[in-house]
Amino acid sequence: MLDSLGIGYSTLLWVVIASLGLLKLWRTLSDWGFAQRNGCGEVTKMPSYIFGLDILWDFIKATNNNYAIDLVEDWQRKFGRTFQLRLGRKLILTSEPKNFQAILATQFEDFDLGSRNDAAHPMLGDGIFASDGKIWEQSRALLRPNFVRNQIADIAVYEHHVSQLVKCMPVDGSTVDLQDLFYKMTIDSATEFLFGRSFNTLGGRESEASKSFAKNWHIASNGMIIRMRLGPLRWLSNLNRSYTKAIAAVRSFVRDVVQEALEHKELQESNQDEKPPSQSYVFLHELATRTQDEKVLTDQLLNILLAGRDTTAAFLSFTFFLLSRREDVWSKLRAEVLNFDKRPSFEDLKSMKYLTWVMNETLRLYPLIPLNVRMANKRTVLPTGGGSCGTLPIFISKGQEVMYCAYSAHRLPEVYGQDASEFRPERWENLKPGWAYIPFNGGPRICIGQQFALTEASYTIVRILQEFESIESRDSEPFKELIGLTLSMKNGAKVALTPVQT
Ligand code: HEM
Repeated sequence: MLDSLGIGYSTLLWVVIASLGLLKLWRTLSDWGFAQRNGCGEVTKMPSYIFGLDILWDFIKATNNNYAIDLVEDWQRKFGRTFQLRLGRKLILTSEPKNFQAILATQFEDFDLGSRNDAAHPMLGDGIFASDGKIWEQSRALLRPNFVRNQIADIAVYEHHVSQLVKCMPVDGSTVDLQDLFYKMTIDSATEFLFGRSFNTLGGRESEASKSFAKNWHIASNGMIIRMRLGPLRWLSNLNRSYTKAIAAVRSFVRDVVQEALEHKELQESNQDEKPPSQSYVFLHELATRTQDEKVLTDQLLNILLAGRDTTAAFLSFTFFLLSRREDVWSKLRAEVLNFDKRPSFEDLKSMKYLTWVMNETLRLYPLIPLNVRMANKRTVLPTGGGSCGTLPIFISKGQEVMYCAYSAHRLPEVYGQDASEFRPERWENLKPGWAYIPFNGGPRICIGQQFALTEASYTIVRILQEFESIESRDSEPFKELIGLTLSMKNGAKVALTPVQT
């Protein structure tokens, strides 16, 4: 055919190559013009060799040896608050609050989650935590009514789990790792809240099915983290049989819970005359009043479990890690707590000013998502970080990933003062940090479980302070990070507690 037109294959090949070259040139010129019109400046480039494999190697080494945050802080000291680096792929790293505001709120439409969706899809399906655009909007609208105030304000649901927790805390001055206990407590409370039945790990009445779920959950979520780190090579994880089996087991467990709830719902509807026994709030039952789609329910439950469980446990662990090292803060907080009833109400918790400061300060020093990533879905501009002064806007090409670092922004001296790395709850008396404080993110994708988490955490903190007179750290080491999906502590929160004498 080509021969009959008198065009050879080699000519065609050259035409294709030339067209692609012209297209690339046109794109580069067009992007350059866009950047000029928006007054963009050059962004500092971190030097690297062999396509950035040296930096990637340093980062992997730092993550495995628990100093990745220190490494990122060190880079920022050398290259500024916004710079470009090669971490397997080209990335912009920023800790500028103005850029956070643009990415998360004012230019929200310009950014997606990027590779997270693909990495998380086998485990989380199309749920809220792993989707963008219309699918995410639908999830958010579907889930929002589950987090309204009267669902969260039902404090009674926490008491059972907190009393189990207190029973597990030694009263003879021996050392306990509170981090371990908090992770157990939050799996108990999350499974009760989400599925309507607790795993009862703290009570020691865990069923074989729950134990196996917990084991598979661990393998599946670790596999997901590896997929996120592998980037375009994430398909390799499908070769790992234990990962794929764990995903199937986790999803099948939750699907069974969903099926059971749907059958139960049908039964209740067919027996409308029989009044259902009064029962505390169950997330799944509430959600099933709005959709009976088995896949949607399974996906969303897995997403909420992932987003809500480890975060709350890690938050409580950091709080007691810090309190155990600051007797003055513990005493001040305890004095406030003892002004209230033994079973504080939602309103009581909200009115405890010093408790709020302690929680704010803990999340400031240890944001549970210290580093996060978004990907531009079109060419755009971020407000600051360019030029020799580092204050000009910067150009972001379509497909560019931007890593934003809450950990560093939470320690900016111009916002928090020269003592920014110190634990000082009193700083919150008049502090208004704006976008320099994003423990729950901000904008349309702000954490949907924020109020729920703060209520569960504050109730737990208050009840422990009521039961124990003093706390002592049993760990002389400084904080050592452990970065998984959320930040936690490599060495746990080892303390000894003295119970109140009755
Ligand atoms: C102290 C505890 C918590 C912290 C610090 C925290 C923090 C965050 C952060 C930073 C994000 C944004 C992630 C991103 O967009 O990349 C997020 C999202 C989310 N969180 Fe939380 N979270 C906590 C507890 C919870 C709890 C208890 C739940 C549910 C019961 C929950 C449910 C969610 C969900 C569903 C999202 C995704 C929202 C969306 O994309 O629209 N979180 N959280």
